[in-house]
Amino acid sequence: MKILVVGTGYVGLVTGVCLSDIGHEVTCFDISSEKIDLLKSGRSPIYEPGLEQLMEKNVKANKLFFTSNVQEAYQSVDCIFIAVGTPETRDGSADLTYVEEVALTIAESIKQDTIVVIKSTVPVGTNDYIERLINERTGEGIKVHLVSNPEFLREGSAIKDTFEGSRIVIGSNSQEAGDFIEEIYSPLSIPIVRTDIRSAEMIKYASNAFLATKISFINEVANLCEKTGANVEEVAVGMGFDKRIGNQFLKAGIGFGGSCFPKDTKALISLANEYDSSSYILDAVLKVNDIQKKRLVEKVKDYFIDIQGKKAAILGLAFKPNTNDIREAPSLELIDELLSLGTEVHVYDPIALENVKEIYGDRVYFHHSIDEAIENADMALLVTEWREVKGFPLKKYKELMKRPVVFDGRNVLSPFDAKKEEITYFSIGR
Ligand SMILES: NC(=O)c1ccc[n+]([C@@H]2O[C@H](COP(=O)([O-])OP(=O)(O)OC[C@H]3O[C@@H](n4cnc5c(N)ncnc54)[C@H](O)[C@@H]3O)[C@@H](O)[C@H]2O)c1
Repeated sequence: MKILVVGTGYVGLVTGVCLSDIGHEVTCFDISSEKIDLLKSGRSPIYEPGLEQLMEKNVKANKLFFTSNVQEAYQSVDCIFIAVGTPETRDGSADLTYVEEVALTIAESIKQDTIVVIKSTVPVGTNDYIERLINERTGEGIKVHLVSNPEFLREGSAIKDTFEGSRIVIGSNSQEAGDFIEEIYSPLSIPIVRTDIRSAEMIKYASNAFLATKISFINEVANLCEKTGANVEEVAVGMGFDKRIGNQFLKAGIGFGGSCFPKDTKALISLANEYDSSSYILDAVLKVNDIQKKRLVEKVKDYFIDIQGKKAAILGLAFKPNTNDIREAPSLELIDELLSLGTEVHVYDPIALENVKEIYGDRVYFHHSIDEAIENADMALLVTEWREVKGFPLKKYKELMKRPVVFDGRNVLSPFDAKKEEITYFSIGR
């Protein structure tokens, strides 16, 4: 099938590349001509393992194209996937400006009936609204049918998630339009969940909010473990054996970040407010997360009487491993907090340094290795569980730092091993 994907960010680009790989002819369109130029040169604007290789394969096979030209993009396609951003507005609701802009372009451009799929995460009722918006503006006799197909991929494993996802949700009010999208995905053996449009939109928000809830829950338990002498990791293992609870997403740490959990939880709260419905649990999830993001600095302040002028090395900046995404990353709050306390901040990340440089410029020292970052440091703060952060030899903290004081925000080291190496070690809930 001939597919247009609008937006070449984490979701749009991965979707476009994967759909071309399963046999469709895909054009990826973005308003950023810089991104399109980069893509045309064979490079990806985002870091995602395996993505550039898969791009190259499908470009060579003449199944994958990139353009920033509206005329070229929007004409004679069987369906259009919208994968533009829906960031949060000041009041926490989802900003639909980009989706609306795409809708208006579709209305002006299409010359035949077209199926429009919203992959972006949008509040309940958005697909109906966008369908009306377009159909009121299309040419004589031309109509679109909207299909909600929310995305569940995770940055860092996005390709694997697209090919081997847990489910594909297809929400449509038109049986035919839904069947059409089901057909597109038929080469993948992933369970398909067919629903009405509004339930599909809600599935996405409820799923993300539930995962965020699990994280805040275990973090709150972790804080209580610290005070009572229990070990949150052992508690999580013991809980996870119960299939009703499950053993995933019970890892205590310094809170969730990223482009989805915080914004989607806020958007769901905003939706609840709009409908005069309660959001007690969701409010608490965010509150716990805000507190948790400060846990490491609190521990630093408790340990050092005065941290003015002390050298802190932050290991890991991305909001999670295998991505260069720093949106709402706990590392940023940590940097802000340490700077405000007069600490000299040194940072290391294998791929997210450039993104952080854009925010902090020369207020922070950037390093290309862990060794370099921790050299002569007073403290090391482990913030993203990159493999190299997890596997960094403990003895090196002792060799390279002024004094080996490690604050582990992701519980990646063993307290037992740290003690053996005479490292002063703090972690979360243990
Ligand atoms: N990132 C994730 O892990 C993830 C996972 C699931 C769902 N989502 C959802 O998917 C959506 C996209 O997220 P993302 O992280 O890929 O966003 P992103 O910010 O990485 O990418 C959005 C892209 O859309 C482009 N764009 C904006 N307006 C445009 C227009 N009018 N025409 C063409 N292109 C336009 C931007 O230039 C950008 O390249 C969001 O709603 C997000 O909540 C994201």
